[in-house]
Amino acid sequence: MSAANLLNPPNREEMIQGEIGSLLWSFDSVQLDKYQHIAVEKSRLHIPLLFGYDVIHGFRTVFPVPIAMAGSWDPQVPERAQAFAAPEARASGINWTFGPMVDIARDARWGRIVEGAGQDPYLGAAMARAQVRGFQGAELGSPDHVLATVKHFAAEGGRDYDSVYLPETSLRNVYLPPFKAAVDAGVGSLMSAYMDLNDGPSSGNRWLLHDVLRADWSFQGFVVTDALTTNDLIIHGFAKDESDAAYRALTAGVSVDMASRILSAQLPALVQSGKISVAQIDDAARPVLAVKIRMGLFEHPYTDLSKTSAVLSDPATRNYARIAAQRSMVLLRNENHTLPLSKKISSIALIGPLANDGIDLDGGWGVGGETPAVTVEEGLRKKLPNAAIVSARGGEIRRTIPSRFDDLFPSTKKGPPLTAEENSKEIADAVALAQKSEMSVLVLGETANTSGEYASRSTLELPGRQEELLEKIVALGKPVTLVIVSGRPLNISWASAHVPAIVMAWQPGSEAGNAIADILFGDAVPGGKLPVSWPRNAGQEPLYYSHNVTQYPESDPTYRSRYWEGPSTPLYPFGYGLSYTTFSVTDLRLSKTELTAGDHWKPQR
Ligand code: BGC
Repeated sequence: MSAANLLNPPNREEMIQGEIGSLLWSFDSVQLDKYQHIAVEKSRLHIPLLFGYDVIHGFRTVFPVPIAMAGSWDPQVPERAQAFAAPEARASGINWTFGPMVDIARDARWGRIVEGAGQDPYLGAAMARAQVRGFQGAELGSPDHVLATVKHFAAEGGRDYDSVYLPETSLRNVYLPPFKAAVDAGVGSLMSAYMDLNDGPSSGNRWLLHDVLRADWSFQGFVVTDALTTNDLIIHGFAKDESDAAYRALTAGVSVDMASRILSAQLPALVQSGKISVAQIDDAARPVLAVKIRMGLFEHPYTDLSKTSAVLSDPATRNYARIAAQRSMVLLRNENHTLPLSKKISSIALIGPLANDGIDLDGGWGVGGETPAVTVEEGLRKKLPNAAIVSARGGEIRRTIPSRFDDLFPSTKKGPPLTAEENSKEIADAVALAQKSEMSVLVLGETANTSGEYASRSTLELPGRQEELLEKIVALGKPVTLVIVSGRPLNISWASAHVPAIVMAWQPGSEAGNAIADILFGDAVPGGKLPVSWPRNAGQEPLYYSHNVTQYPESDPTYRSRYWEGPSTPLYPFGYGLSYTTFSVTDLRLSKTELTAGDHWKPQR
């Protein structure tokens, strides 16, 4: 019932008493193995532990962030990526991941848009199913795979931890299908969200956790709360104290209390007072035990540490990280076939705060040792060993208000900020380099800690002085290609009219620099299509293609725009993405010109 965390580790006595069912947030394989030996050999009931970690888009090898992989529109991409991530995690002692995140995101200001598959329930369901298969294998218990967790149930998606008001129709038609797809694919656990849905916190919401999940969908796995969420029931004003919070969480359908340990502390008294029966506790514990049994943990509780380093350095994993990154990048603009670039270019100015940065190209949820990605500079130098490549940062970017997670990930700690004068000097130096080079490649966007959890924004402007840098370099009149690195669409309205070639690289992971160079120089064709509507500015959000047609449709000649100062349409629509390939499809005919319900039509040649 209790998921302890290794930031605040349980003591040996608690383990021996069997008070701990899982341990979270460590990938120290030796330490995890020691805990498993205590649980299996010394604890009262000899039940093996689950070791949970956020393996979201890779472990030691980092794959593109989930929204990027959704942009491949090919479920095999995230399925294979997670199937490579699973053995890396498993070989390091982790047997439970907190993914896939399948929240529908219709607003790019929400930092967590990066973790899911974007705005569409059908695409979201396909990506959810694929990731469950990738993590868990053909069935729970497949060797070298991990238990998956579909999250955050349900309907988080606007601002972190916030209230959501949704009618049941939108919930069932838009927000729940990816969860249902994950459940149908056999996901073994499900995370109840922080937020409250229609005034009821998800982790105390019996309608969601029982009526929908168990009664309607026949979910066989277990429910784990999001971190410390049992305690949050008190913060929400939904439970009056810890005892009430434990009562409400358990009776709603929660089996595992992530990190707050309120259930294990409060349940004995609740049983003694007769408020909760032992049978209710058995009902909550049963799905956890069933999952542990189906995972084969009782037969194979330990990790074979002699294999860890071979698994973590398997070149096939790294190779697939490069392919997944190529398949995810979206070509947004390519005037006059600017891309692919010629390999005969003699000199390139590589400019921008993300041009020579590995950590930020990995994206958030750094795990498994924080191995920095191949930088764009390294990738370009390998691709063009004889070209003169000069690089400049052109000013720094950083959060205005630090994230609480910055303390957990050492890589996000930075020295004192540059002064305005120092930033201006860096920009001037970068412009001077661009002036001397045949062309510029600008790598602009966001750092890893400016998207994800705790990273929502009130604008979508390029952070810092990147817009100024971009406009000054374009003003030189030399060829410019823009590569955007970020976990969300940004306001690139000016660039979309003035920069001939724009590639959305997202946060591509370990092979970032190589994959970006492959795309820029035509060794790979950009395969991505946008899984979100790309707004012109933040004021258009939430922006999604599937809104109801009310009053006049936008196609009506009398319709102008809902804004007087700009179009209602996105800058780039959902599904948009160019290619280097051209093809035409001709002479298509429909097999039927009239359809009745249940009919299908096929194009015919
Ligand atoms: C996040 C979850 C995550 C959990 C455990 C929470 O803050 O909302 O997505 O799985 O932490 O790390």
